[in-house]
Amino acid sequence: MEKLRVLGVEIRGVQAEGYQLVTIPDILTPSLVKAELGDHPIGRNIVHYFRTDSTNAVALKLAAEGAEHGTVVVAEEQTAGRGRLGRAWFSEKSSGIYTSIILKPPLAPAAAPVLTLMAGLAAQKAVSSVTGLSVDIRWPNDLLVNGRKVCGILTEMSAEVDRLHFVVIGIGINVNHSLMPTELENIATSLRMEAHRGISRVQVLVNLLREIERHYQLLLKGGNKAITGRWEAASTFAHGKRVRVVTAAGEALATTTGIESSGALKIQYDDGRMDSLVAGEVVEVK
Ligand code: BTN
Repeated sequence: MEKLRVLGVEIRGVQAEGYQLVTIPDILTPSLVKAELGDHPIGRNIVHYFRTDSTNAVALKLAAEGAEHGTVVVAEEQTAGRGRLGRAWFSEKSSGIYTSIILKPPLAPAAAPVLTLMAGLAAQKAVSSVTGLSVDIRWPNDLLVNGRKVCGILTEMSAEVDRLHFVVIGIGINVNHSLMPTELENIATSLRMEAHRGISRVQVLVNLLREIERHYQLLLKGGNKAITGRWEAASTFAHGKRVRVVTAAGEALATTTGIESSGALKIQYDDGRMDSLVAGEVVEVK
């Protein structure tokens, strides 16, 4: 059986009679991404690396040096990909999307949590439209497929008390990994493993940048509620989810009761206390 690779994704069963098959590698080169994306502020300037330590570290440096709003840093491989809460991000070469987007919003530093929710929502729309998979969002912004994580988001920023200089939204998506490292296999998966087919990283990245542009405009025009309302509708974690809450103070069981317009997750602990989480994480309890 012939094998045709389109954007690096293998398609089986394609007959090549009379045609020479050309392999287009699934490399996230700026020209390929921009040709599909069109001209929008987010993605007008794309900086591509075959290998770097962390796209967030690069983007923070570029932003401090004056890079424009919407600049996107993307890498085929990260040697020191970083995750939330001081963790590392597994960044296998050319299997995932490792990208960081510089935003310069006309907003106060208090808007950072909603920008984070906005990015999760945008990533959910992009991933589900390209793959057809059912994608959940776990507060604050992990994407889950069949209960396992396929995407994580790390937001970092530079701000004064009342002025946001810039925000870097770092997004890691497990796209074409054919298996996960043993220590992650119970909690993480890839789009390929769930969809049972290769997925075009270019298509996912293009859709991601489009959706971030769209949701960013929704936030600027409609305010926090435009994002938190959509987030509540898009996540099974917003209401009535039994969770283990993990914060610097320790762990406790709770049930979620909604999202505040600030982006905080409202919860009721099993002892009856109500609270709003601004940091930490939640894990579903079945
Ligand atoms: C998480 O812990 O869930 C957040 C993971 C964020 C990973 C991405 S990969 C691209 C960007 N660069 C980094 O070093 N981290 C983020």
